[in-house]
Amino acid sequence: MAQQVRGVVAPAKGEPVRIETITVPDPGPGEAVVAVQACGVCHTDLHYREGGITDEFPFLLGHEAAGIVESVGDGVTEVAPGDFVILNWRAVCGQCRACLRGRPWYCFDTHNAEQKMTLADGTELSPALGIGAFAEKTLVAAGQCTKVDPAAEPAAAGLLGCGVMAGLGAALNTGAVGRGDSVAVIGCGGVGSAAVLGARLAGAAKIIAIDLDERKLAAARSLGATHTVQAADADVVAAVRELTGGFGADVVIDAVGRPETYKQAFYARDLAGTVVLVGVPTPDMTLELPLLDVFGRGGALKSSWYGDCLPSRDFPMLIDLYLQGRLDLDAFVSEKIRLDDVEAAFDKMQRGDVLRSVVVL
Ligand SMILES: NC(=O)c1ccc[n+]([C@@H]2O[C@H](COP(=O)([O-])OP(=O)(O)OC[C@H]3O[C@@H](n4cnc5c(N)ncnc54)[C@H](O)[C@@H]3O)[C@@H](O)[C@H]2O)c1
Ligand SMILES: [Zn+2]
Ligand SMILES: [Zn+2]
Repeated sequence: MAQQVRGVVAPAKGEPVRIETITVPDPGPGEAVVAVQACGVCHTDLHYREGGITDEFPFLLGHEAAGIVESVGDGVTEVAPGDFVILNWRAVCGQCRACLRGRPWYCFDTHNAEQKMTLADGTELSPALGIGAFAEKTLVAAGQCTKVDPAAEPAAAGLLGCGVMAGLGAALNTGAVGRGDSVAVIGCGGVGSAAVLGARLAGAAKIIAIDLDERKLAAARSLGATHTVQAADADVVAAVRELTGGFGADVVIDAVGRPETYKQAFYARDLAGTVVLVGVPTPDMTLELPLLDVFGRGGALKSSWYGDCLPSRDFPMLIDLYLQGRLDLDAFVSEKIRLDDVEAAFDKMQRGDVLRSVVVL
């Protein structure tokens, strides 16, 4: 039977979010209902509220979540009721040309639940990134549930569902940082500081964190940055070159996603090095670079979608490393809040006060 639960809804462009009673249908074929235990507040939720992603209001926000599978629909074999899972927003199809070529992390046809969650009056909700986990329960495609070791703290585990995975994967998967590499990370919010942590995990010898906010630089240092650059009063390219013997870093990760930070990444990188763009630009942004420099500097210019992660491969492995004390996911949980506090958490995020506020249920 369909259930009524509390959820955080963005009703219209730019309006504050509010708690609504939402109806969660029973899972249909290939679907699962998950009792959410924790869900981080990500910039993307705010982008939805501001109408910056689509105009399909009302949105059910929240997408960095962990919880317990409550029920599954017909044909679901990968998870069962009682499983502790992290939700992902790229459930791979197994059928598209990327999947068939053995590169499922690029899947071009990821999917969500077919049925809709609704408001009490029947209005259909658009769940953020196909998840909608600022709610006591949510309906997702079973492929969006990845089973991990239930010993993990839900507030920390859920963060792998979006920003922290994007940053870790930008370093580990897209940038393929290796032992002894030098790495620079521009922008050390939730995503960038996870990239710092990923670079340390991969054995980078030098990790240079760059930000405008001293608090973010301090957090990056505690996560493994060996050097920091205050971007407000330094020439970022010159600073990175100076710290790398005059050459530039092997891998530069742009976790801001603006033309000026991308150019810094491009020139702060050693010859034949790699640039990873993980910050998301807006539609008005364009980039101009001398084509001769693109050729002459060589190397790779890559974009990182969700850290090029494959949830079934990466989530259980990263949770195991967390449980061994080798991956400090707890460091990203700045505060634990209630569903009613999401609007206040957006303000803290905009002021840069937190890496992540996490709703616990
Ligand atoms: N590629 C993906 O799949 C993916 C997934 C999640 C988030 N993202 C994107 O990653 C980006 C970062 O997300 P976040 O949650 O870390 O945001 P955040 O706001 O927490 O962090 C951004 C950081 O960049 C710093 N910054 C801003 N301008 C700067 C500049 N010119 N030079 C240096 N530092 C600067 C800020 O001080 C802040 O610390 C966003 O664009 C977000 O949309 C991408
Ligand atoms: Zn596919
Ligand atoms: Zn997110």
